[in-house]
Amino acid sequence: MRLAVTGATGFVGGAVCRAAAAAGWQVTAFGRRAAADAGRLGGAAYRSWDIGAAKLADPPGVDAVVHCAASATDTGVAPEVWRTNLLGTHHVLASFPDCRIVHVSSASVYDPFRPTVRAREHEAPVDRYLNAYAAAKAAAEQLVLAVARDAVVLRPHAVYGAGDTTLLPRLLENVRGNRLLVPGNGKVLVSMTNVDTLARACLLAATAETAWPSVFNIADSAPVPIDWALRGLLASAGARVRPAYVPARVLTPFARVFPRGRLNRYVISQFAVERSLDITAAIDRLGYEPSPTVFPVP
Ligand SMILES: NC(=O)c1ccc[n+]([C@@H]2O[C@H](COP(=O)([O-])OP(=O)(O)OC[C@H]3O[C@@H](n4cnc5c(N)ncnc54)[C@H](OP(=O)(O)O)[C@@H]3O)[C@@H](O)[C@H]2O)c1
Repeated sequence: MRLAVTGATGFVGGAVCRAAAAAGWQVTAFGRRAAADAGRLGGAAYRSWDIGAAKLADPPGVDAVVHCAASATDTGVAPEVWRTNLLGTHHVLASFPDCRIVHVSSASVYDPFRPTVRAREHEAPVDRYLNAYAAAKAAAEQLVLAVARDAVVLRPHAVYGAGDTTLLPRLLENVRGNRLLVPGNGKVLVSMTNVDTLARACLLAATAETAWPSVFNIADSAPVPIDWALRGLLASAGARVRPAYVPARVLTPFARVFPRGRLNRYVISQFAVERSLDITAAIDRLGYEPSPTVFPVP
């Protein structure tokens, strides 16, 4: 199997490269930076490509592409987010018109204005989002499904594991003393996604025979209370931190004044209400085998 991986220098893309290499696949890894550590890519050949700039002049011949590259930030500047996440996806599709595209999307495409309760795939996209990241991820999914000849869209939520560039670093950045201010009450359920399980789902999606259109939620076997998840994540990093909960109604007026602040409306929407996914379709149709949410003990 010959695989190309975009976003290979990132958290998810690196895990996909290592899993594919371990399975004996021939992998070409793409990232934006000039050079990458071969060990983090499972020894894959590396090429630098700014997907927002243009399509590849000389794409390698591959059987599938796992497209992980994205501006994966909720506070990103909108033009840059749209350039990478939508225009970049257009360039990926134009570079690889004839092979399976596994598009790594996000559960951010579900409605941010109401709880996501065991959401099924048909419940997104919606016509309202709280930031450019979610809106551009939703638009990119639609582009992939409209243009690609053969595509599988995966929607993970709250990815964790070794090499996390997003969730855990963001939590640690916001610790003050031994406290982490968190919107909500800590009791709502959240679907977490182990990065190694997500990488395996990407490999399944690269090879599965699946009916069109193919959109799948990807998460661990069952949602967990968010307070349990936060404490586990922080403890796995060796941080002795206690979440301190603040009702969303108290934080929302500040978030309206500081729309790109750390406790912005998107963050409130992610932490204060349930964000759980139904993963039945991935289990039944992709052969996805989820595992329970477990955080490594340091
Ligand atoms: N982490 C999560 O919790 C989570 C949850 C749901 C969905 N996702 C999705 O999973 C995917 C991967 O996220 P991640 O957490 O692995 O993010 P990440 O660690 O920030 O990695 C982002 C990757 O995209 C590349 N990239 C960014 N802009 C680019 C550009 N203009 N051209 C080419 N490459 C570019 C980066 O390359 P350089 O580093 O070389 O610049 C990096 O390899 C994203 O599509 C994200 O939406 C992530």
